[in-house]
Amino acid sequence: MTQTELVPGLAGIPAAESSISFINGQEGLLSYRGIRIEELAAHSNFEEVICLLWDGTLPTQAALDAFKERLRPHSKLHPDLERFVRALPLQGHPMEALQASLATLGMVSPRVDLRDPVARLDACLRTMGAVSTLIAAAERHRKGLPLVEPDPNLSIAGNFLYCLNGERPDAIKTRVLDCALVLHAEHTMNASTFACRVVASTETNPYTATSAAVGALYGPLHGGANERVLVQLESIGGPENVSAWVDKKMAAKEKVMGFGHRVYKTKDPRAKNLQILARELFEIHGSTPLYDTALRLEEEVTARLGGKGIYPNVDFFSGIVYQKLGIPTDVFTPIFALSRMAGWLAHWMEQMEDNKLFRPGQIYTGRKDVSYVPIGQRSAAGK
Ligand code: ACO
Repeated sequence: MTQTELVPGLAGIPAAESSISFINGQEGLLSYRGIRIEELAAHSNFEEVICLLWDGTLPTQAALDAFKERLRPHSKLHPDLERFVRALPLQGHPMEALQASLATLGMVSPRVDLRDPVARLDACLRTMGAVSTLIAAAERHRKGLPLVEPDPNLSIAGNFLYCLNGERPDAIKTRVLDCALVLHAEHTMNASTFACRVVASTETNPYTATSAAVGALYGPLHGGANERVLVQLESIGGPENVSAWVDKKMAAKEKVMGFGHRVYKTKDPRAKNLQILARELFEIHGSTPLYDTALRLEEEVTARLGGKGIYPNVDFFSGIVYQKLGIPTDVFTPIFALSRMAGWLAHWMEQMEDNKLFRPGQIYTGRKDVSYVPIGQRSAAGK
């Protein structure tokens, strides 16, 4: 079949068959392996969700314990990788550090035959196990603080907060981050997952494929929006300024960060759950004035743009939650990557199981039959 008409952004064009997650954008429904995200947010945890995404069903207690046991040793960084993190430039963005660190993780991991499913799972465990420590270590290095040795007895969420802050997080903070990780873990064929699958289709390892996915997630139209939402809320300065601020944005035809989604045409179900988490956190640790600005902004933007299907997306409340957890603004997108790593790796395995190299077509718009002109006979205008 030859497609002759361009579909910008490949919107709505299926790129793969997948049984990992499902979205209904009109109804605001998201499920992982058939289980609604609301149920997982209320009852599950990140480690269990990784098993669900990778294996297709919820694990038994014994299978979950065995999974954690296998994941545990990989939270400790290889000495060469730790040296690499300590040598990272201080002025870079944490997503750039993460992308480079994942590629380096591949360099210190065993070369294995990825046609073997056991070797594939092992490579995924190495990647998933290391990522929380990598993000926290790069952040501490940037701040000039000593790196914190991971505690293999903590959950991924707990370990991340511990390695980032150097102190054991309380139960509510760990639960809130764990739940945020559940909510961001997988989301069908978005730009970063597609990038991961394209790289996987060349039959390369998960370190390289997820490093490419991190690059895709970094952009402001994808995962990079969450840190911009916080900057935006801070710049508005309070709920009383929202209406005039939105007027200016609309007049300048600028987008409001944290609103709109390629698939959801109603409020993103993950945004609803993050809002519940924000409230739980505020009950114990106190609210933030940014939340009042956010509520007013939601009201104003949905009143004006709801008719176009523009509602809060997942990034709208995540920044407010992460700020309350004491996480620096530019580490928000790496947390998204830590969570989405579960989904990317599920897609990497699915692609490897039934692979066809991605090789899309294009619609050529350039010139044809142009003669070669020797360099001495070319003029600047004669292109
Ligand atoms: N603020 C104001 N207007 C918007 C917004 C927004 N956030 N999003 C879309 N619109 C308007 C557009 O201006 C356009 O209007 P027009 O028809 O009058 O020209 C219309 O809605 C359609 O916009 P598109 O950008 O074509 O819609 P698309 O579905 O491609 O956009 C996207 C999705 C890229 C996420 C967009 O809504 C956006 O840029 N949002 C802001 C950035 C953001 O929050 N990104 C995070 C997305 S969630 C995630 O990646 C995890």
